[in-house]
Amino acid sequence: MPPPVFVSQPIPERGLELLRRERIAFEINPAGRILSGDELIAHLAGREWLLCLLTDRIDATVIRRCPSLKGIANCAAGYDNIDLAAATARGILVTNTPGVLTETTADLTWALILGVARRIPEADRYTRAGRFTGWGIGLMAGHDVHGKTLGIVGAGRIGVAVARRAVGFGMRILYHSPVACAEIERCCGARRADLKSLLRESEIVSLHVPLTPATRHLIGKRELGLMRPDACLINTSRGPVVDEVALVRALREGRIAGAGLDVYEREPELAPGLAGLENVVLLPHIGSASIETRSRMAEVSVLSLLKMDGQCL
Ligand code: DGY
Repeated sequence: MPPPVFVSQPIPERGLELLRRERIAFEINPAGRILSGDELIAHLAGREWLLCLLTDRIDATVIRRCPSLKGIANCAAGYDNIDLAAATARGILVTNTPGVLTETTADLTWALILGVARRIPEADRYTRAGRFTGWGIGLMAGHDVHGKTLGIVGAGRIGVAVARRAVGFGMRILYHSPVACAEIERCCGARRADLKSLLRESEIVSLHVPLTPATRHLIGKRELGLMRPDACLINTSRGPVVDEVALVRALREGRIAGAGLDVYEREPELAPGLAGLENVVLLPHIGSASIETRSRMAEVSVLSLLKMDGQCL
């Protein structure tokens, strides 16, 4: 019998230590790269538990062809990489790691907000290139953040944490959510708005929705067209929430002022033209990438394997 737990990609040591401490036999994907569906299926033969990352696609075929699988611990808050309906139909438990990455992702969102508005990466490139020949009154002038309107799309944990930080910047906060969020209203004075009004009124629009059929291309040509010409779009949620081709066009034509992206529609690929634009800040999906948080995510994933319905291991 193979060890019951398969770890699809190396995870931080804290998670592995916990597996060892609990004397749980596991195998880490020996290939040192992301496995294809067929490879994953081969590795999961006879195993019951999978610890995977958001870059592993656990689709209906994988689920169908892994009859011994009982539980999947996804080391991420988002779980759009897993066919939840197929897993549920088979009675496979699926867990994620919400909560532990909230503050870290909110910090990174703010790094993007400030980076885009104040043109920080662009100014850094300029300085390194030896082009700084002296102070100039218009040199690298960006947009203020304090006192502006921040539009939060999705008032879940991360959306609320981003709004909390905005209070310190004296911002007016709008939020869009299918249900009212008492916390964001109480602690941040945020006002609920429909998406159109939020897009029309906000200088910074920050996306914090999960990827679902309803949120795919939530921000497309029409929505970008509603935004102010001095507005920035920030996305630390999931790439397909934004129509990236429409975004490139809007940025190129100056219909919005800038964008800060941590996620992409076809990761790790970027839409043609995106990387050539000066008014964007592009990060390689590092929203939760602090050493502390990634360790905690690994630990929580292992803890959920241990707890899965008391039936694990
Ligand atoms: C998540 O957990 O969903 C994040 O995108 C990982 O950085």
